[in-house]
Amino acid sequence: MTRATLDKKPHEVATMFDDVAANYDLTNDVLSLWQDRRWRKEVAKAVNARPAQKVLDLAAGTATSSLPFAATGAYVVPCDFSFGMLREGKRRHSHLPLTAGDATKLPFKDDTFDTVTISFGLRNVVDTDAALREMYRVTKPGGQVVICEFSQPTWAPFRTVYTEYLMRALPPVARAVSSNPEAYVYLAESIRSWPDQPGLAARLQEAGWSKVAWRNLSGGIVALHRGFKR
Ligand SMILES: C[S@@+](CC[C@H](N)C(=O)[O-])C[C@H]1O[C@@H](n2cnc3c(N)ncnc32)[C@H](O)[C@@H]1O
Repeated sequence: MTRATLDKKPHEVATMFDDVAANYDLTNDVLSLWQDRRWRKEVAKAVNARPAQKVLDLAAGTATSSLPFAATGAYVVPCDFSFGMLREGKRRHSHLPLTAGDATKLPFKDDTFDTVTISFGLRNVVDTDAALREMYRVTKPGGQVVICEFSQPTWAPFRTVYTEYLMRALPPVARAVSSNPEAYVYLAESIRSWPDQPGLAARLQEAGWSKVAWRNLSGGIVALHRGFKR
């Protein structure tokens, strides 16, 4: 795997997601062995959306990640910069206000949302720190951020097996089920080079978030990070 696989420009990331939009949700289910459904339930619990709250689901893709928040009666804005993903999302969930926007230059006013959340998206944003600062800007004082992202399994023997799965099994499985297997090679490589749990927590603090904490899911394959805006 070359570094070039990871050194994508923002428009190349958007195009990559345009290409996988049609089969995106099915591929996720298969590659995660249906664990993604459980992870989404845990995100919903952490976000704890309530009627009359405003929730921004950033890098929402086809808006599958937005559905549990919308089901609570909260006002949910799914936002993404891939027109292919947004189109697919609009086709499936026409009742949601899907919005085009770049995580590093959000089209929202300061202090707008009670919760800003992002599932399996922050790792794909080319400038992570700019996105964390923008998320902070659009959150109301007292509001929270909830980040659901792949992370590092905490038990070393399992980490080794998992890394083998990512680098060896995932690309051939992706070739069988995805319209763009190259995107899933990128997925494996981007998960490997993403910061571990304390590393991401430190980046959140640098962006201004306080009371930062995290919880591991599936032994640390995924971590939920939370922070608050003072
Ligand atoms: C793996 S998908 C996750 C979609 C959804 N949140 C979910 O859980 O299924 C990652 C999404 O991040 C979006 N994305 C990447 N960089 C972005 C940016 N700078 N601004 C907005 N969206 C971005 C991509 O277009 C893609 O739809």
